[in-house]
Amino acid sequence: MTHERPRARSRLLHQMTRSLRPPLLLAISLAATAGAAAQPPRRTAVPPPSCSAVTQQTCSTAQALGRGINLGNMLEAPREGDWGVKLEPVYIDQVAGVFDTVRVPVRWSNHAALTADARLDEAFAKRVDQVVDALLAKGVHVIINMHHYNQLSGNPLHPNEKEVDPAVMDTRLVNMWRQIAQRYRDRSPRLLFELLNEPHGRLNGEAWNTLAPKVLAAVRATNPTRAVLIGPGEWNSVHELKKLRLPPDRNIIVSIHNYDPFDFTHQGVQHLAKPFPLGTTCCDARQRKAITDALETARQWSAANGHPLHLGEFGTYEKVDLPSRVAYTRFVRDEAERRGIPWTFWEFASEFGVWSPKTGEWVEPLRRALLD
Ligand code: GLC
Repeated sequence: MTHERPRARSRLLHQMTRSLRPPLLLAISLAATAGAAAQPPRRTAVPPPSCSAVTQQTCSTAQALGRGINLGNMLEAPREGDWGVKLEPVYIDQVAGVFDTVRVPVRWSNHAALTADARLDEAFAKRVDQVVDALLAKGVHVIINMHHYNQLSGNPLHPNEKEVDPAVMDTRLVNMWRQIAQRYRDRSPRLLFELLNEPHGRLNGEAWNTLAPKVLAAVRATNPTRAVLIGPGEWNSVHELKKLRLPPDRNIIVSIHNYDPFDFTHQGVQHLAKPFPLGTTCCDARQRKAITDALETARQWSAANGHPLHLGEFGTYEKVDLPSRVAYTRFVRDEAERRGIPWTFWEFASEFGVWSPKTGEWVEPLRRALLD
């Protein structure tokens, strides 16, 4: 925990201040090779550590999540485009051509009524439909979530984010999910719901243990068996798994995030309250141990508790030196996969990205580290 605290604090301050500098799209122009998109989808060969608490179908779904990508900084910006990237149709072709799973972070909370009923904005919901359906049509697994509902965890608002009365905050979460679940009730089981990205702050511990079952119940009213992802507090930290109390439901996959070593992955990020200097490379024995300890903690929790895992986010900022980004990416990928943990890399085309919107090409060494 001593190791976790500074990181958690940094993450909080990061979120509080990120809006001061919207993500930059610094093009990293590296030679892309022909045939990059020809890579066939691949699945995690190692089965989950345990599936004793889930159905056979959810166990298979967890394993099929395989290798994936986040379409980050797009639909979870306060308004699409606010953070420099829009979810272009060509991105759907790019990611679906090479990954098994696409996680689509969505900021529903800023596109819903501010009252308790949280009626979804239909134009925005249709935009999400378009993305979800285009991805499902490509045959990949798709994860949609509830991303950057900042007030819920006690964070200040981003610019262009609307404030809600604290008295209706939690109810809004439940009611947004009731509508989302109803909306997608007939979609393929390849569509997964993730109840909340990185609960933290006021939601840590018992608060999330109490709220998550209410949200899940709203989903289950229309989607009795769809696989749902739920993660622990402190930004989905593996160290919080021991505090996570899941509702009795046989279709839950547990989501974890890991950016260890944080001073390496987030070096140069200027909107951290106390930015880490550039120049940290990866991965020496101490750094490798930080990564494997975290993944091993998660694997052991899964083996003991019977829910398969998903590593929903890991990645590095674009200013980190490229050979180290590549070494880190391949190492995390291999260590997760050997433990039967499927993953979605953070992220596709923004400041942690594996693809450059400026050149229209993959950052090829990073792509290879994820997929070859
Ligand atoms: C966070 C968030 C994401 C953020 C990323 C990098 O966990 O989910 O929105 O940009 O990590 O710091």
